[in-house]
Amino acid sequence: MEVFAIDGPAALRGEIVVRGAKNSVLKLMAATLLAPGRSVISNVPAIADVRIMCELLRRLGCGIDYDAAAGTVAVEVPTEVGITADYELVRLMRASISVLGPLVGRMHAAEVAVPGGDAIGSRGLDMHQHGLERLGAQVTLEHGYFVASAPAGLRGAEIELPFPSVGATENLVMAAVLAAGETVVENAAREPEIVDICRMLVAMGARIEGIGTSRLVVTGVESLAPVSHRCVGDRIVAGTWAFAAVATGGDIGIRGVPQALLPNVLDKLAEAGGRIEDLPGTDSQGSATAEAPGFRVRGPRRPQPIHVSTLPFPGFPTDLQPFVIALNSVADGVGLLTENLFEARWRFVNELSRLGAKVSIDGNHALVTGVESLSGAEVEASDIRAGAGLVLAGLLAHGRTEVSGVDHIDRGYEDFVPKLRALGASISRIEKPEPDFL
Ligand code: EPU
Repeated sequence: MEVFAIDGPAALRGEIVVRGAKNSVLKLMAATLLAPGRSVISNVPAIADVRIMCELLRRLGCGIDYDAAAGTVAVEVPTEVGITADYELVRLMRASISVLGPLVGRMHAAEVAVPGGDAIGSRGLDMHQHGLERLGAQVTLEHGYFVASAPAGLRGAEIELPFPSVGATENLVMAAVLAAGETVVENAAREPEIVDICRMLVAMGARIEGIGTSRLVVTGVESLAPVSHRCVGDRIVAGTWAFAAVATGGDIGIRGVPQALLPNVLDKLAEAGGRIEDLPGTDSQGSATAEAPGFRVRGPRRPQPIHVSTLPFPGFPTDLQPFVIALNSVADGVGLLTENLFEARWRFVNELSRLGAKVSIDGNHALVTGVESLSGAEVEASDIRAGAGLVLAGLLAHGRTEVSGVDHIDRGYEDFVPKLRALGASISRIEKPEPDFL
């Protein structure tokens, strides 16, 4: 078993480069299925989920040329792609569901294993299913698989989402770009990753209006062409570093993501006592795809508590929730966090309590009373963000913290340990023996 061993406390100082967003690149890779030929995606982070998506596309018949160091993935899409995404891969990564829309759109058929619930909540897929049905597909659940078919192809429709689901918006847009006629998605999600996918689809020849708004209008086209596309920077990874700077009283320059992708987040960090400014050569409104826009975050001696409600973009992202709780756990006062997206994102809190954090949970609220200092302990990561949140807590704690479940962190954070070391943290990845009495 591998664990991250952290000797805290540490204030992080230095500069970091953030590459493309996990939650965009996986969907961009799925979108390549829409056009036969060679598409190339750049600014790809070296994370485990990218390797899983490469394997998924390979099993659908694509040729993959992945250069982790250069950060590029070339996908050679055949004229006939396979239609089955099996459970072995889907269970490793829920984002596998994002091949459903492109497969039904292009092949008029798909069989995609249904991912189960996970550590952050039940995570329904009804909007994906009902949306595809509105577009004329028949979708049934058979032996744990969504089996979708539309022998005559999809046709445009009006779809109103009951909630701006990121995954459903993406799947429906990717299905609609090759449908006959016009599709309107009302109450669409507006995350920067969705903007990124829409831009790539437009570059492939799709017709999409309202990009970045909650009303997307897609006019179907006959076919799409392969493309080269640079993935948008990872605002959640950038946000992770920004929280680390403020919570540890450090000073981090963060390149690869402009301030404009973190509305609300940087305001909250300023309330916590952080000082934020653009790095030289950056325009804070800078294009999301610019090569190296960035900002610098400096933390106070001790943070002030912050009150946060998670909401769909441009609201405060649920994926940064564990960092809010970690920061509040050492803040000078009481902070309240309200989680509005995932009902079970609290497993992290039990672990944080092992470090001495004072958190009480009531429904979807977490009330955190800051303590002077945390004390290192052994804890276990239950998902990507919880894992990174526990590492941050370990940096705040006195003594040694060991975080297990590091495979979760590897799914979303590239070179996490080397980057933390470069910023001055005392952290290493160590092998621990599994218990031998089981
Ligand atoms: N929902 C439904 N039915 C649906 C779809 C969603 O009830 O058909 C519910 C979910 O159960 C959840 C809420 O709607 O309560 C939001 O789900 P959404 O579909 O927006 O999320 P997602 O597409 O499954 C993506 C990210 C998550 C991120 C959320 C919210 C990817 C691969 N994942 O998930 O990222 O938390 O959007 O922003 O894009 C992470 O990166 O660690 C992560 C969990």
